[in-house]
Amino acid sequence: MKLWGGRFDSGPSELFERYSGSLDFDRRLFEADVVGSKAFANALESVGILTSEERDRILEAFDGMLADSAAPGYFDADDEDVHTFVIRKLGESVGDLSEKIHTGRSRNEQVAADFRLWAKASIRGVQVRLGGLMESLLALAEREPEALLPGYTHMRRAQAVLFPHYLLAYFEMFCRDWERFQQAYERADVSPLGCGALAGSGFPFDRERMAKDMGFSGIAANSLDSVSDRDFALDFLYASSVAMLHASRMAEDWILYSSEEFGFLDLGNEVTSGSSLMPQKRNPDALELLRGKSGRVCGSLQALMMTLKGLPLAYNRDLQEDKEGVFDTASQVAESIEVLALCVDTAKIRPQAMERAAEEGWVSATALAEILARNGVSFHRAHQIVGGIVLEGVKQGKRPGDWTLEELREFAPELDSRAMEALSPRNALENHALPGGTSTASVRKAARVARERLAELARRSRADGGGGS
Ligand code: ARG
Repeated sequence: MKLWGGRFDSGPSELFERYSGSLDFDRRLFEADVVGSKAFANALESVGILTSEERDRILEAFDGMLADSAAPGYFDADDEDVHTFVIRKLGESVGDLSEKIHTGRSRNEQVAADFRLWAKASIRGVQVRLGGLMESLLALAEREPEALLPGYTHMRRAQAVLFPHYLLAYFEMFCRDWERFQQAYERADVSPLGCGALAGSGFPFDRERMAKDMGFSGIAANSLDSVSDRDFALDFLYASSVAMLHASRMAEDWILYSSEEFGFLDLGNEVTSGSSLMPQKRNPDALELLRGKSGRVCGSLQALMMTLKGLPLAYNRDLQEDKEGVFDTASQVAESIEVLALCVDTAKIRPQAMERAAEEGWVSATALAEILARNGVSFHRAHQIVGGIVLEGVKQGKRPGDWTLEELREFAPELDSRAMEALSPRNALENHALPGGTSTASVRKAARVARERLAELARRSRADGGGGS
């Protein structure tokens, strides 16, 4: 008999049962559903629906279910969803007593509570991996403190930057992602238990205690809102989408940097694969997959926004469509972040190739113009003068390092010996010594601060619950 079967004098079609069933994916909420059901058993005892002896039998049965659930085939069943599955399993242990567990309770509040609890643990898992990726970036920055990269704008060589400065740019992005996941965690950390189907329970449950039993920090203020609110899932999907965008941008950089054309780094065998036809190939498949998966994750955010758009209050069955995209996203994001960290850990950096590329390009042109500006020439004129030098260099096939001071002074007598120093990309970057700039001293300081921030993030996620994988 269905949980809701009394009002029907015939059953649903087999087609509809298949269409509406969700156990094959919402079984991922099993543990959360049992934890929530245990909180409910306690609440039912407090309001006198269960005796304490009955409550203890139920709690014991739930613990047994948690232990048994690892067995292969445990979830091979045709129950409508995870909530009905859990109640049926309870019945297998405690018999008719199981029929009392759903007193004053609705699956609408249950699914909202389970999904939130599951999201909290998943977020912690992603944060741990983000911390690992930040650690990998920082460790590489510390291993290659001197490597110099031609920084790009418009994918054209622009100004020299230290390679650690480049790595720390991604550290910043992933740090903001960590914070976004933290905000998503805090929004998920609110209990819907006691909200019933929509109007609040008909029994005077202690909602604070139920929240605490289930591991939530607080209770939702409004029952109608609580059973249909999926903002926390949107927050999770948004945080995931942005993190995937950042990871995808880095993947794109590294696909280019590891190409024969750039040769700035080699990816490890751990993350590359060959071609079935072309024997010479070593393809950056891990990074390409990551770039591809970022589209899929952003798609899940769009999908849920479209599902929620136009839903009348309160619960509607459309909301069952909230889960698969979120489950998939959690797996894809956690794995992608881990894969990116592996790419960083196993890459071989080629500092000479980076520096050569910087020296061949005019990445020090701006520094040259700034010397003129320091010597009293207006920047507008300085820009034109250096533009002329570059144009002449390009015409004659002369690289920046090929110029003598005399030749330069023909363009502008204001140029002095410092101009020769500034032509070297390494000297040029030392001019950027302000906070956030790329001088050796600024970057060294930024790396030290980054290490402290990373330790602080790890401390924060341990302080409010930790866990999750
Ligand atoms: N499987 C449902 C979901 O995921 C659970 C809640 C069902 N509630 C209902 N009244 N049909 O949303």
